[in-house]
Amino acid sequence: MRKIPVIIDCDPGHDDAIALIIAFGSGVLDIKAVTTCAGNQTPDKTLNNALRVLSFIEKYPIVAQGALEPIMRELMIAPEVHGESGLDGPELPPPSFEPSQKNAGDVILDILRTSDEKITLIPTGPLTNIGILLAAHPEIKQKIERIILMGGAAVGGNWTPGAEFNILVDPEAADIVFKSGIPIVMCGLDVTHKAMIFKDETEKFRRIGNKTGKLVAELLDFFDLFHRKEGFGFAGAPLHDPCAVAYAIDPSIFTSVDYFVEIETKGQHTLGATVVDFKRKYGQKNNVTVVLDLDREKFINLMYSAVKNLT
Ligand code: RIB
Ligand code: CA
Repeated sequence: MRKIPVIIDCDPGHDDAIALIIAFGSGVLDIKAVTTCAGNQTPDKTLNNALRVLSFIEKYPIVAQGALEPIMRELMIAPEVHGESGLDGPELPPPSFEPSQKNAGDVILDILRTSDEKITLIPTGPLTNIGILLAAHPEIKQKIERIILMGGAAVGGNWTPGAEFNILVDPEAADIVFKSGIPIVMCGLDVTHKAMIFKDETEKFRRIGNKTGKLVAELLDFFDLFHRKEGFGFAGAPLHDPCAVAYAIDPSIFTSVDYFVEIETKGQHTLGATVVDFKRKYGQKNNVTVVLDLDREKFINLMYSAVKNLT
């Protein structure tokens, strides 16, 4: 079966790390490159974390570091969620391979320009790299199949009452992406807060018996701490970024509705909100497939199968 060509842009981060593992274990995706952005941690740490996770699962794609900070704002990071390293918890050896010397934007541009097929972008962090690429090279849009992103929320937020972290870190970049005209699939908090994994399911990963299953369980152990402690009232850990990768692998396990969505880049209390025009008040063409629900069992099984495929 033809694999789906994708590029993953991420800010590992525990859930990004699990998303990478699922992507490489699924056997469905042809991952042309992994690029990194600042977000969960500083750019040097997210790059190092991507290299460490990929080295651990013995996968060696092109890896390239992107922008060091948002387009026009101070970088905001999330050590309270992911720890000082950005991947606290599991013991992960240092990387066993080097990143590209090229910037992420140039790597993505080269791959898109030379590809004889359109490529799907899967950003699971702030949209800085993608926003800069589209602003600098708008002509490259016709080589992008669609953008399946983790970010935003039709209702609510997790970093402020009205904004989700990835969009809030770089609202200007998100605005460029959402106005690009490229088909967008938004896996926001509406679905990711339903994509919960619970303690007994984490143990299933540990019991797989391979080193990747143990790593996933240890990543979840740490990720769960914040969501349990933080008083989110969650009984489990929301698997944000794996939703975007899982959608690329098997969209049938998700439920979505197409809407017109735009990004708030000015609001005092609403900065970074993904404003979904539910009542179609603006009469604008729908630009986003907003993912709202999933078959959680199928989602967990998809992840489990992918991890079993690895060592
Ligand atoms: O709001 C959740 C998102 O922010 C996830 O992508 C997580 O990794 C962080 O980047
Ligand atoms: Ca992320």
